[in-house]
Amino acid sequence: MLLLLPLLLCLLFPPSTILSLNQEGLYLYQLKVSLDDPDSSLSSWNDRDDTPCHWTHVKCDSVTRSVNSLDLSNTNIAGPLPVSLLCRLRNLSYLSFSNNSINSTLPSEISMCRSLIHLDLSQNLLTGTLPHTLAELPNLQYLDLTGNNFSGDIPDSFARFEKLEVLSLVSNLLDGTCSLVGLIPDSLGKLKKLRDLDLALNNLFGSIPSSLTALTSVYQIELYNNSLSGELPLGMSNLTSLRLLDASMNQLSGTIPEELCGLPLESLNLYENRFEGELPESIANSPGLYELRLFGNRLTGKLPKNLGKYSPLRWVDVSHNQLSGELPATLCDKGELEELLMIYNSFSGELPATLGACQSLSRIRLGFNRFSGDVPAGIWGLPHDGWKTSWSFQVVITSLVGRCLRAIVNLAQLGTLDLHNNELSGELPERLRSFKKLNEMNLANNSFKGKIPEEIGSLSVLNYLDLSQNKFSGKVPSGLQNLKLNQLNLSYNRLSGNLPPLFAKDMYRNSFLGNPALCGDIKGLCDGRDEAKAAGYVWLLRTIFIVAALVFFIGVVWFYFKYRNFKMAQRAIDKSKWTLMSFHKLGFSENEILDCLDEDNVIGSGSSGKVYKVVLSNGEAVAVKKLWGGTKKEIGCVDIERGQIQDGAFDAEVETLGKIRHKNIVKLWCCCITRDCKLLVYEYMQNGSLGDLLHSCKGGLLDWPTRFKIAVDAADGLSYLHHDCVPPIVHRDVKSNNILLDVDFGARVADFGVAKVVDAIGKGAKSMSVIAGSCGYIAPEYAYTLRVNEKSDIYSFGVVILELVTGRLPVDPEFGEKDLVKWTCTILDQKGVDHVLDPKLDSCFKEEICKVLNIGLLCTSPLPINRPSMRRVVKMLQEVGTENLSKSVKKDGKLSPYYYYDDTSDQGSLA
Ligand SMILES: *[C@@H]1O[C@H](CO)[C@@H](O)[C@H](O)[C@H]1NC(C)=O
Ligand SMILES: *[C@@H]1O[C@H](CO)[C@@H](O)[C@H](O)[C@H]1NC(C)=O
Ligand SMILES: *[C@@H]1O[C@H](CO)[C@@H](O)[C@H](O)[C@H]1NC(C)=O
Ligand SMILES: *[C@@H]1O[C@H](CO)[C@@H](O)[C@H](O)[C@H]1NC(C)=O
Ligand SMILES: *[C@@H]1O[C@H](CO)[C@@H](O)[C@H](O)[C@H]1NC(C)=O
Ligand SMILES: *[C@@H]1O[C@H](CO)[C@@H](O)[C@H](O)[C@H]1NC(C)=O
Ligand SMILES: *[C@@H]1O[C@H](CO)[C@@H](O)[C@H](O)[C@H]1NC(C)=O
Ligand SMILES: *[C@@H]1O[C@H](CO)[C@@H](O)[C@H](O)[C@H]1NC(C)=O
Repeated sequence: MLLLLPLLLCLLFPPSTILSLNQEGLYLYQLKVSLDDPDSSLSSWNDRDDTPCHWTHVKCDSVTRSVNSLDLSNTNIAGPLPVSLLCRLRNLSYLSFSNNSINSTLPSEISMCRSLIHLDLSQNLLTGTLPHTLAELPNLQYLDLTGNNFSGDIPDSFARFEKLEVLSLVSNLLDGTCSLVGLIPDSLGKLKKLRDLDLALNNLFGSIPSSLTALTSVYQIELYNNSLSGELPLGMSNLTSLRLLDASMNQLSGTIPEELCGLPLESLNLYENRFEGELPESIANSPGLYELRLFGNRLTGKLPKNLGKYSPLRWVDVSHNQLSGELPATLCDKGELEELLMIYNSFSGELPATLGACQSLSRIRLGFNRFSGDVPAGIWGLPHDGWKTSWSFQVVITSLVGRCLRAIVNLAQLGTLDLHNNELSGELPERLRSFKKLNEMNLANNSFKGKIPEEIGSLSVLNYLDLSQNKFSGKVPSGLQNLKLNQLNLSYNRLSGNLPPLFAKDMYRNSFLGNPALCGDIKGLCDGRDEAKAAGYVWLLRTIFIVAALVFFIGVVWFYFKYRNFKMAQRAIDKSKWTLMSFHKLGFSENEILDCLDEDNVIGSGSSGKVYKVVLSNGEAVAVKKLWGGTKKEIGCVDIERGQIQDGAFDAEVETLGKIRHKNIVKLWCCCITRDCKLLVYEYMQNGSLGDLLHSCKGGLLDWPTRFKIAVDAADGLSYLHHDCVPPIVHRDVKSNNILLDVDFGARVADFGVAKVVDAIGKGAKSMSVIAGSCGYIAPEYAYTLRVNEKSDIYSFGVVILELVTGRLPVDPEFGEKDLVKWTCTILDQKGVDHVLDPKLDSCFKEEICKVLNIGLLCTSPLPINRPSMRRVVKMLQEVGTENLSKSVKKDGKLSPYYYYDDTSDQGSLA
C-alpha cells in the first residue's frame, strides 16, 4: 500500500503538467500566445523551462535573473502591442519590436514600464496619436517610432523627457501617407541631453523654432522632406555638438548663416530649398566636412576659395544654383573626392588641373556652365586602379574644345560617355574592346571624323549609341547588328556604302538621316539617283549577277574541300592554345577532355552550346558544355536572343560561379578557354534534367515524395544564390530543364549561361541589356520593364512547381493562348483542383500537393512584390514537409519533435 501511493500520485499528476516556469516566464508565455507568429520565431518559448532566460530574444540580469531585455525585432510577428504584460516585467529596460506588424495603438499605459531606457517600435503598423504619457518614463534615453502610422501633433509633454538622447519620429510608411502634422513644438528645446533629433519625412510646417538652438548636446538634426519655411533660426552657433544637419526638401529661405558654417560640421544637406546669397567662406574651415549638398537653391557668388583644403570632401553637389567664378583648385586636396556635381550654374574659367590628379573621383558632372579651355589630361585617365569596384563612371562636360579621345580607352569601368554638344575632334580609337561596361555613348554634335571602328560591335552591353552630327565616314560597321540598341543615331555624318541588312528597314530611317552616300532599302535614303539612268544599267547588272553566281558556286565547292582539310589539321594544333581555369582540385587534364569532344558523345544541346558527356580515364564522368560567342535561340512563341558572352565579363562571371559551393548547385569543375571557344566542365548528373524526365514517358518514375524533394532542393539552391552569395546572383533562366538530377534524384540548379552578378552597389534591380529567360517561365513584368531581379527567378521557380504538381509543360498548344500559370488558375477556378493535379500522382498525398500548389501560385503572383523571397519559399516548403512528418510520427505513437510547434492545446492551460 505504501508503495502504491507514489505511483498513484504520479498517475494523477504526470510530471509534464507540473509547471515550474517562473512568473516572468509565464508573462512572456502569455505574450507569445497573444501574438501571431507565422515564422515560429518564438518556438523556443515553452512552459517546461524554469526561467525564460535562455529563450531566444530574451535576456536576463545575470544576478537577479529577472528579464531586462526583449528584442523581437525582424521576427515578423503581428498583433496588438501587449503593453500590460510587458509592463509587468519590472526590470525591463530594453524593448524592441522593430520591423514587425504590430497593429494596435500605443496605449498610454506604456508609462507603467518604468524601467525602460531603450524603446524601439519602428517599422510597424501602429496608429493613433502619440501618448503624452511617454514623457513620464523617467529613464528613457532612446525613443524610435519611425515608420508607423501615427497621426496628430508631437505632444508638448515631450519637453519633460529628462534623459532622452535619441528621438526619431521619421515617417516612411510605404504608401507615403504622412503622419505627424503640425509645428515643431518650442518645448523640444528643453531636451538638454538629446543627441539625435529625427523628424524627417513628416508634414511639419512653420519655421524652425529658435528654441532648438538650445539643444547643446545635439549631434544630428534631420528635418528633410517636411514643409518647413522661413529662415534658419538665429543662435545656431550655440549648437556646439552639431555635426550632421539635413533640412533638405523644405521651403526654407534666407541665407545660409555664417554662424552655422562656423560649426565643425561634417555633413550639411540643405538641397531643394530657397536659400540665396553666398555660401559663407567659413565652411571651408570645417575639419570634418565630407558631404555638402546644396543643389536646387538660389545661391549666388563664388564657392569659398579654400573649399576642400582642410576638409576631407567626398560628395559635393551644388548643381542648379546661380554660382559663378572659377572652381576652387583645392576641392580634392584631401584625396577623398568621389562625386563632383555642378551642372546648371554659371561657373567659368578653366577646370583646375588638380581635378585630373584626383584619383578618388568616380563621377563628374560639370555641364551647363561656362567653362573654357582644355580638359585636364588626367581626367581621361580616371578612374584609377582604386576604382576597380565601381560600376559606373560618368563624364559629362560641355563647352569643351580638344582632341583627347585616345586616352579614354583606358577607362575600363566607364558606363556612360556623354560628350555631346562639344567641339571635340579626332578619330575614335580602333581598340574599343576595353570599354567593357560602356552602355551609353553619346558623341553627338562634335567634329569627330574617320571610320566608326568595327570593334564597336564587341561592346556587348552598349545600348545607347548616338554619333549624329559629326564627320564620320566609311561604312556602317556590320558588328552593330550584334548589339541590343535602344537608341541608334548615326544621322548627319558622311557615311557611305550599304547598310547592314538588319538596319536596311524603314523603321531605322531616322537613325541614318543626312548621309547622302548611304544605301539601303529605305525609300529616299540615297539621294541623287536618277531612276531612268539606273534602268539603263539593268542588263549590265544582270550579267554581273550571273557571273558572280558562277564564281560563288565554284568558290563554295573549293572552300568545302579546303575547310575539310583545314579542320583535320587543326585538331592537332588547337590543343596547345587552351588556357585552363580550375575551381576544384582536378583529377584530369584538359587534354583528356578535348580528346573526347566527339559528336557521338553529345547528350544535349542547350541555348548557348552543346553538352557532351565525357568519361575520364579514372572512370568518372563529367559534362562538358561548349559555348560559342553568340547564339540565337528559337522557341514557339517568342524569339529570344542571348547576349554575347564577352571576354572579360565571361571570365569574371565564371570565376564567381566557380567559387560557389552548395549541395544543390551543379559543381563547375573548371573552364577551358581559347580565342573562339569556351568549355565549361561540370559534374555529370546521371538522371539528366527534371524537364526531360518529367515530360517524357518516364514521368511516372517521379512519385510525389521525389517531386517534393526536388522542389525543396532546387529552392535551396536558388535561395543560396539569392541570399548567401555576395554579391547576390540572379539565375535568369530558371526552368525544369536547368534543374538536374543526380543518381538519387537529388536536384541541383544548373546553367548560369545568362546569370549575372547583381549590382549590389546600385540600388535595387539592375537593368540588364539583354533579354533572358525561356518561354512560359518569363515573369509578366518583363512586358513593361526589362529589369531582372530575384523576383523574376521566383516567378520562374513557381512555374517549375506548377510543372511538378500538374505534370504539364510550361507552354502547351492545348492551353491555347495561355501559359501554364494562366491555365492552372483558370482550371482551378472553373473545374476545381482535381482537374489540375497530375493524375499520375498518388491521391493519398493530395493535401500536401495542394499546399505545394499554393506555394507555386504565390511564387507566380503577377505583382513581383507579392512573391515571397526564396528563403521564405524554402521555409514554406519545409513546413509542408514538417507537418507531414509530425503527422506520420504521431500515427506511430512516438513523440514528435515538432509537437510543440503545432499543437496549441498546451497553451490553453495558461490562458
Ligand atoms: C528587479 O531587480 C531588482 C534588483 O535590481 C530585484 O531586487 C528585483 O527582484 C527585480 N524584479 C523582479 C520583478 O524580478
Ligand atoms: C524586416 O524583417 C524581415 C523578416 O521578418 C526581414 O526579412 C527584413 O530584412 C527586415 N527588414 C529590415 C529593414 O531589417
Ligand atoms: C492585427 O493583426 C492581427 C494578426 O495579424 C489580425 O488578426 C488583426 O485583425 C489585426 N487587427 C487590426 C486592427 O488590423
Ligand atoms: C494609415 O493612416 C491612414 C490615414 O489615417 C489610413 O488611410 C491608412 O490606411 C493607414 N495605414 C495603415 C497601414 O494602417
Ligand atoms: C517626400 O514626402 C512626400 C510625402 O510628403 C513623398 O511623397 C515623397 O516621396 C518624399 N520624397 C522623398 C525624396 O523622400
Ligand atoms: C547662446 O548661448 C549664450 C550663452 O550660453 C546665451 O547667452 C544665448 O542666449 C544663446 N543664444 C540663443 C539664441 O539661445
Ligand atoms: C551643337 O553644339 C553647339 C555647342 O557646341 C550648340 O551651340 C548647338 O546648339 C548644338 N546643336 C544642336 C543641334 O544641339
Ligand atoms: C538623330 O538625330 C537627328 C538630329 O541630329 C534627329 O533629327 C533624328 O530624329 C535622330 N534620330 C533618332 C532615331 O533619334
